[in-house]
Amino acid sequence: MGTWSGVADAYRESFATLCAGAIERLLADTSGERHLDVGSGTGALAARADALGRKVIAIDADPEMVAVSTAVAGGRVVEGSLPDLPFDDNAFDAVTANFVINHVPDPRAGMRELARVVRPGGRVAATIWPSQPAEWAVLVAGAFSAAGVIPIPGQRLSADLDFERSVAGLRGLAEAAGLEAITATELKWDWDISVDALWGGIAGGVATVGQTFLAQMPEVQASAEREFREAATALAPEGILRLSTTAVYVVAT
Ligand SMILES: C[S@@+](CC[C@H](N)C(=O)[O-])C[C@H]1O[C@@H](n2cnc3c(N)ncnc32)[C@H](O)[C@@H]1O
Repeated sequence: MGTWSGVADAYRESFATLCAGAIERLLADTSGERHLDVGSGTGALAARADALGRKVIAIDADPEMVAVSTAVAGGRVVEGSLPDLPFDDNAFDAVTANFVINHVPDPRAGMRELARVVRPGGRVAATIWPSQPAEWAVLVAGAFSAAGVIPIPGQRLSADLDFERSVAGLRGLAEAAGLEAITATELKWDWDISVDALWGGIAGGVATVGQTFLAQMPEVQASAEREFREAATALAPEGILRLSTTAVYVVAT
């Protein structure tokens, strides 16, 4: 969960480059002219789909993300939120949601909405992060712990709304929405990011990790940054981190 308000620029320079690692796979596994990208963020997937000749609509809940997407994505970018998309049933040949279902307040209703707007025989392709923390998250968690960062409440869904953040969990979500899973698997890649850019995303308030940082007292924030930079620089003396990444992925029809 967490708020995406006011973080679009920080997101673009940091975690957007992480999420971009899945874009080509989502595009390779979908086809057709009418493409909807839900939770379009900075518009990178929509821009690539546009370049492939698809008629793309991008939609995001956050107005700043919409503004950033509009600048890069071409096509149409609109503001709107899962689970209530302003489109007719069966309106699209392909629907993508790259790291979005893990951020919505009701993932089951969100997936049902993706299923509603894709045509029979069309495809929904979606990614989430698994429950095991990624290498970047382990690095940051170590720094936060050493600095005495206090977690912020309310970042987890209640048990009745949450789902298992795994291949089986995401497949189950798609099947519960009436879709048939064609592929359900993990995707793995390395994320190359500078120490400064990763810290920029955190200090800029992106996602739960950034919101947690912003909620700390100034001295705790300063200590967290010191701890992070020390650990990150030990891993990457040249300043560019290479961090292994695993996503959970489903393609369904
Ligand atoms: C992790 S970002 C992923 C952005 C983009 N898909 C990418 O790959 O870079 C999550 C995005 O989902 C959007 N979002 C969050 N809740 C949403 C909702 N209920 N409906 C639509 N978009 C939502 C956020 O504003 C943010 O742009």
